[in-house]
Amino acid sequence: MKQIIEELAIFGGRPSFEQPIQVGSPNTGDRHRFLARLKNSLDSGRSTDRGPFLREFEERVAAFHGVRHCIATASSTQALACLVQALDLSGEVIVPSFMPVATAHALNDNRITPVFCDVDPASQTLDPGRVDELVTARTSAIIGAHLWGRVCDVDKLSSIARRHNLSLLFDAAHAFACTYHGRKIGTSGQPEILSFHASQILNAFEGAAILTDDETLAKQLRAAAVSADSAPGATLNGQMNEISAAMGLTLMDGYTELVAVNLRNYRRYRRTLAGLPGIHVIEYDYREQNNYHHVVLEVDPAAAGVTRDQLMAILSAEKVHARRYFCPPCHWEEPYCSQATYVRSPLPVTEKLARTVLCLPTGMAMTGPEIDIICNIIRLAVTCSSDVSVRLHYSNGLLRQNYLSHIDNPADRDVVRLGNE
Ligand SMILES: Cc1ncc(COP(=O)(O)O)c(C=O)c1O
Repeated sequence: MKQIIEELAIFGGRPSFEQPIQVGSPNTGDRHRFLARLKNSLDSGRSTDRGPFLREFEERVAAFHGVRHCIATASSTQALACLVQALDLSGEVIVPSFMPVATAHALNDNRITPVFCDVDPASQTLDPGRVDELVTARTSAIIGAHLWGRVCDVDKLSSIARRHNLSLLFDAAHAFACTYHGRKIGTSGQPEILSFHASQILNAFEGAAILTDDETLAKQLRAAAVSADSAPGATLNGQMNEISAAMGLTLMDGYTELVAVNLRNYRRYRRTLAGLPGIHVIEYDYREQNNYHHVVLEVDPAAAGVTRDQLMAILSAEKVHARRYFCPPCHWEEPYCSQATYVRSPLPVTEKLARTVLCLPTGMAMTGPEIDIICNIIRLAVTCSSDVSVRLHYSNGLLRQNYLSHIDNPADRDVVRLGNE
């Protein structure tokens, strides 16, 4: 374990890891089972158009959540587009800004105005107290996101939606098998969009699904999702293919273990980082089920002595690619940042979270000793933060160049700043 800051890779020490460790490394499950399914699919010649794996996957996901219908799609954006069409959404839709900008774009592309709402500081999900003030005569829906699998305040949002006669739907990308008041998502009457992107707990390479108990809506969604070839009049061609479904099924087979590993990792991070000033590992309500797929830090720079972006750069030099989420938040992006119609009230919580949230790697690929090494780097950076900050601040262009090269995502490079630079 590194003991002094000169050993940190950002200051010229040897990186802690040979191979990069990423947030969102895909869980791949039992390879033999997946390859057997793949062979079956190749042998049968069924690769799409609601083949047997897709049907089985939809049935198992629906049964797992205790919901009557699951409609799998090729991506979350496709799922949202199907819902926009089926629910006949129009005008304005209230959404959190602390979510992927792709969601806002999906609405905007459908000529719907996303109106950004702030989130609650404790849950980081849509703040029901702020939703009401954004409802206008043009509002047709509210979309909440169950961030980190922590389910939105469904009761309060439902009552607002009922009062104004609005549709309510949820982005449940992080919330596979998570519960609200002890009941799995999908059972509260509103449609939920799950994501099976490779970085989610249940990897189907790419993909998503809508959960609903509503028979009529399910029929409309199926019609919207299938290809125009197989169903004249359908427009979206957003269905999931057989190979994705085969991967999804393989991970369903081992789902209990995935959650157990995530919980073990999460508890180790929390234990090892406990008591570190300015470093808060977000909590999960142990009365609810979560999949523990996100280990989320909130970095308070005043208390930690380092900023989130400095910590991210320090980890990155060690080949640990922690990830900021929703930075920039939707309302800082074009076209939303240039027009008042999208941003009608301040979003202070979102802006704070966008500057302070950092996700650490977890999942099947992580071992306990690796987690200990990552925590030790964070502890070293925080306990020696004044020296670290000074060195980062006065570091020459070469050092800056050197560690920016560790940050893979070009978008991240623009935002990472050292010290007061
Ligand atoms: C909260 C949230 N919603 C939606 C998505 C988009 O999911 P997909 O990659 O399936 O489009 C993500 C992706 O990480 C996400 O974090």
